[in-house]
Amino acid sequence: MCGIFGCVLCEGNAAPLIRSSLKRLEYRGYDSVGIATIFNGKILVRKDQGKIDDVNALIDLDGMPGSLGIGHTRWATHGAPLKINSHPHGDCTGEIMVVHNGIIENFSELKNELENIDHTFVSKTDTEVIPHLIEQTLKDNPKLSFIEAIQQTLKRLEGSYALAIISSKEPDKIFCARNESPLVLGINGKGVYCASDIPAFLPITNKAVMLNNGELAILSKKGYELKRIQDLSSVQRDPITIEWTSEMAVKHGYPHFMIKEIHEQPETLRNTLRMQDHYLDLLSTFLDRANEVFLVACGTSYHACLAASYMFSKLAFLPTYPVYGSEFVEQHGKSVSIDSTILAVSQSGETADTISSVCCAQQRAATILSLTNVIGSTLTRVSRVYIGTQAGPEIGVAATKTFTSQLSVLAQLALKLSKKRGKISQDEIDCLEEKLLQIPETVDTIVKTQEEKIKAIANKYKDAKVFFFLGRGISTATAYEGRLKLMEIAYIPAIAFPAGESKHGPISLIENGFPVVFICPKDETHKTVIGNIMEMKARGAHIISVIEQGDEEIKSLSEDYIEVPKGIPSVLSPIPFIVPLQLLAYYTALAKGYNPDMPRNLAKSVTVK
Ligand code: AGP
Repeated sequence: MCGIFGCVLCEGNAAPLIRSSLKRLEYRGYDSVGIATIFNGKILVRKDQGKIDDVNALIDLDGMPGSLGIGHTRWATHGAPLKINSHPHGDCTGEIMVVHNGIIENFSELKNELENIDHTFVSKTDTEVIPHLIEQTLKDNPKLSFIEAIQQTLKRLEGSYALAIISSKEPDKIFCARNESPLVLGINGKGVYCASDIPAFLPITNKAVMLNNGELAILSKKGYELKRIQDLSSVQRDPITIEWTSEMAVKHGYPHFMIKEIHEQPETLRNTLRMQDHYLDLLSTFLDRANEVFLVACGTSYHACLAASYMFSKLAFLPTYPVYGSEFVEQHGKSVSIDSTILAVSQSGETADTISSVCCAQQRAATILSLTNVIGSTLTRVSRVYIGTQAGPEIGVAATKTFTSQLSVLAQLALKLSKKRGKISQDEIDCLEEKLLQIPETVDTIVKTQEEKIKAIANKYKDAKVFFFLGRGISTATAYEGRLKLMEIAYIPAIAFPAGESKHGPISLIENGFPVVFICPKDETHKTVIGNIMEMKARGAHIISVIEQGDEEIKSLSEDYIEVPKGIPSVLSPIPFIVPLQLLAYYTALAKGYNPDMPRNLAKSVTVK
């Protein structure tokens, strides 16, 4: 997730406005910033790594002349957060500049093709192929107009993009395009604007035009023109009036970041599934060679590791050991060795216990691999290989979208490893890959169809003194995470354990009306889970189940149930099944009058760069 902004002003310099508008998009990324303007028919570029204010103090972004320009604030996905990888990116001649939010999946192939015909690339980004491809398209077909060259280029891109493009060949225009990454136009009498999100221009105009997937926009002093990428036919769309305040706009109209981030999951999952194969391949090669693999993390990230231990075992027949970051040194500090591999998982890449586990293992010559949401964090610097989870910055203290992104990368990794090791049939792998691609849609359906019901359940149980969260198999991890969410933001004590453990002690707590949440995918644990539900019910527990649609058997045993779409394979089930529990925690916190974005005594790990 990055932020882009561009403007064509009737009067004055664009750069100060671009800089201040990007500031309002910094919640989308803050690794680096860059601006390109056109002045006297020439393109000027200033960019550097770091936050906008720091970069502006160093290289005076505001001082750039020109009434037209584009800017970008970056959340690194391809390439470290360095100046060289900062946007805008240009072609060989420096006559075309591009800012981009999204992921170009086929950039490696395109880059190879262009390098073979002597294009020189300076960054590690996927974006840089775009200006070079436009340049090459024009070289190959000198009769094409600039917009036709953009159109041809866009047709070759696979993946997601919101783009703003300028060129000294068309010095009075900004060309924008959208496919699966947000882009919106703003207008007022003083100019026309394009941005990743409304807050960027809300202080200057509340008149907005939403761009749809597959559309192009041309901005000039005259206003805006919309076209379909497919055939460049015109699209007519009038501006709408945005009624949000600036504060509401940053949260996209949601009252809290947590609920915004829960709702963002279909999009963040789609981005995560665009993961570059190359990184998965590399990481799985290290895992394949490992003698022992520790999955090290804290809190929510630990729960992702717990789920991953089932994925690796079931799909790749690889035994792995999930370990709490806070316990690793005590438990394995002396035995970890050159034969050990650590896969550390951390949203922030800065959690002290995870980092000290990694440092301890590193001193003993173990191989360090990692999965993090923050490229450039300490974890990425100490890892041999790392993968970014592509969830974009997470502002809510309670991890939500980063958890489902972690799970989806870990599932992709387990599948990759499975292929390598030849442990399950190709048919089964193909089927799981297909199901994984459907998960964003599944999550979307859950949010759309179950949210109201979950709100009612939260209100019903808000005064409960304690909750149980139970699951079997991989759903144990879902249970642990559901319980953490509820405790963390609604301050209700909750206990989670594998459902089979009930009879070894915890069931003695059950009395009339005790709420027990059961996570019940229709997998090989289904029958035994029914047994566990019955033993709880017999002692007066109130069963709240998360079930597959149409699971009449468990429905009939439940006081309340939440349904997720049918046909989710067991190994992927934590991704959709956690979503109702995130919502349950959120609405319980609201019902109790707490602010879910500010849980007491807790703060998000911050990234120190
Ligand atoms: C979960 O909602 C919490 N924010 C917390 O458990 C978190 O997952 C943990 O502190 C680990 O953070 P990390 O992923 O940034 O390492």
